[in-house]
Amino acid sequence: MRVQVVIVGSGPSGLLLGQLLARAGIETVILEQKSQDYVLGRIRAGVIEQGAVRLLEEAGAAGRLHREGLVHDGTEIIFRGQRHRIDFKRLVGKVVTVYGQTEITRDLMDAREAIGATTIYEATDVSLHDLTSDQPTVRYVKDGVTHSVSCDYVAGCDGFHGVSRRSIPEELIQNFERVYPFGWLGVLVDQPPLSHELVYVNHERGFALCSMRSPTRSRYYLQCRLDEHVEDWPDDKFYEELSRRVDPAARANLKPGVSIEKSIAPLRSFVAEPMRYGNLFLAGDAAHIVPPTGAKGLNLAASDVFYLSQALVERYRKGSTKGLDGYAEKALARVWKAERFSWWMTSLLHRFPESSGFDQRIQAAELDYLFSSEAAQTALAENYVGLPY
Ligand code: FAD
Ligand code: PHB
Repeated sequence: MRVQVVIVGSGPSGLLLGQLLARAGIETVILEQKSQDYVLGRIRAGVIEQGAVRLLEEAGAAGRLHREGLVHDGTEIIFRGQRHRIDFKRLVGKVVTVYGQTEITRDLMDAREAIGATTIYEATDVSLHDLTSDQPTVRYVKDGVTHSVSCDYVAGCDGFHGVSRRSIPEELIQNFERVYPFGWLGVLVDQPPLSHELVYVNHERGFALCSMRSPTRSRYYLQCRLDEHVEDWPDDKFYEELSRRVDPAARANLKPGVSIEKSIAPLRSFVAEPMRYGNLFLAGDAAHIVPPTGAKGLNLAASDVFYLSQALVERYRKGSTKGLDGYAEKALARVWKAERFSWWMTSLLHRFPESSGFDQRIQAAELDYLFSSEAAQTALAENYVGLPY
């Protein structure tokens, strides 16, 4: 088989890239190691920036998002039992849309199926070859049979644990990483959200986040230790802990229910540089990870895909590799801005086990400054709703 671009991974990055390229007449095949149901079962991000919404529109996959997504003008932060609102719309004239990553993935899969483009699910043992030649090859195994696809370019959209980044020789890639000493325990429940906007909480017992997926489905997170397991957290214990961390108004509105998903995610900041090796280009979590506190992971994947799709379209329409040559630098400039914001939000809102009295006072002073300064709130809002690309 021969195709113009092989995309490894059918998460949001791979699917969005496939759709934007298909719309420009560029042929792709997506190789995904898991089944379609498995990919759709992963509960992850929920906050979508306007830039990502625009890309989904361009991809012809934003119809349901516009019908069902919840537009949020601001968010709230609880500190010392007091609620403070950050009004995005007033401060920076922009909003975010709350719509689950699972739904985006489903919409993109439907759009891909509608145009008849190929996705091969349960493609195992994917391996990348001849990446520095003008005809790279990608091999995979499906139903016990080995297949080989030759192409012009490979897009590595296979997440943090994927094969793409690992296919770059070690001496040609540099990794920058911070692992945080806690994780997020997440619960999905069919109960109405306890507030109409997202509520972030800095509490002495640890961070909490009250988010949502729809007017009848809530998503809650608690900061937890890295050595804890979901089995340690039956639903009753989860709600008891959550109600301790929120304010009385939220406590009164909190409706416990049987969780339909429960998982623990460790928090990590990670960037691999450069995001290119020969004719392999990395996008999304394959190249970088942000802690979820800034709601940036999926949005950053979308901005990578925007730059990469533009560069590939320019290559096929005009024969110019200028966009491809500048891709890594352009994408990384934005990546580091999102890394900074996500690290800052994480430092601001969590309790660090090793933190001294001094660190704790500095964190409190930083929060007090945020709540009293229009300029500080504007900076938060600007980053949260998404910097332009
Ligand atoms: P992924 O979504 O990871 O998709 C990669 C795909 O590649 C997967 O389908 C995988 O099966 C496939 N793949 C992997 N290896 C191979 C291989 N060798 N061959 C073929 N296919 C392969 N972001 C937020 O903004 N808010 C959140 O609350 C949030 N929560 C998260 C919770 C968890 C547990 C994780 C892991 C991430 C979370 N994120 C969150 C981040 C966000 O979900 C990611 O940034 C986003 O999924 C990135 O999309 P992606 O397509 O680049 O990677
Ligand atoms: C979510 O709804 O899953 C969510 C929202 C905001 C975040 C992280 C996760 O910062």
